Amino acid sequence: MVTNIHHVGIAVASLKRSYRFWRDTLGLPLAREAEVAEQGVRAALLAAGESEIELLEPLSPETPVGRFLAKRGEGLHHVCFKTPDVGGDLAALRAKSVPLLDATPRRGLAGRIGFLHPRAGHGVLVELATPEAAETPAESPVRFKRLVIGSRVPHDTAKTYQDLFGLPEVEVNGGPRTMLGWAGGGTLLMVPAGEVGGMEGMVALSMVAPDLPPLIQRLEKAQAALLLGAGELTVEPKSSHGVHLHISRYHFP
Ligand code: CO
Repeated sequence: MVTNIHHVGIAVASLKRSYRFWRDTLGLPLAREAEVAEQGVRAALLAAGESEIELLEPLSPETPVGRFLAKRGEGLHHVCFKTPDVGGDLAALRAKSVPLLDATPRRGLAGRIGFLHPRAGHGVLVELATPEAAETPAESPVRFKRLVIGSRVPHDTAKTYQDLFGLPEVEVNGGPRTMLGWAGGGTLLMVPAGEVGGMEGMVALSMVAPDLPPLIQRLEKAQAALLLGAGELTVEPKSSHGVHLHISRYHFP
């Protein structure tokens, strides 16, 4: 039922400060920013290829994102799948007794949206969104590629996502990992928790860029903590608002 990864949400203490990294240093264009009082956030969507990055600043400590920050600090907060009919999907999930935070859709930054209970997504908070207007992706020098999810039993977690959202499986070379999504589009990679320091849930974000040298220059100018490899780089979470961020070189088709 879902057609692609609409965005990945990141909880931040301050939108303004997080813009310095995500918009100014990485170069992701700001698509829109608004207060979503019902969710207790001021939120922004930044273009990142076919998907977007959403930054969420809590309006007060007594909000879900405020409590998330107090407990876990800045970092990956949720993943949102795009669907043509969020209302129908929530009703179908409810009929299957899937735990939901929203029984019916409400208005969010990405259109009409609804959240599942994190229990439904093996510890990952999942949002479904039906955009209200056609979206034309803005050009971005860095694009979303993959969200990495740590799991005790990756095949089981993947099975749940296939059952709940109809996510297609992308071939990987056997082994304990499972990849879901769209080759060339956004994917979710389920890896054994043991491979990622025992962490379960969302553990890392992979992006691609056609041209790494100017990006590295901007990152170094911003004094971001980097690990440079051949045709790839990793930004340490302290420099990317709690996100383990991996960027590799890729020529966009
Ligand atoms: Co969202």
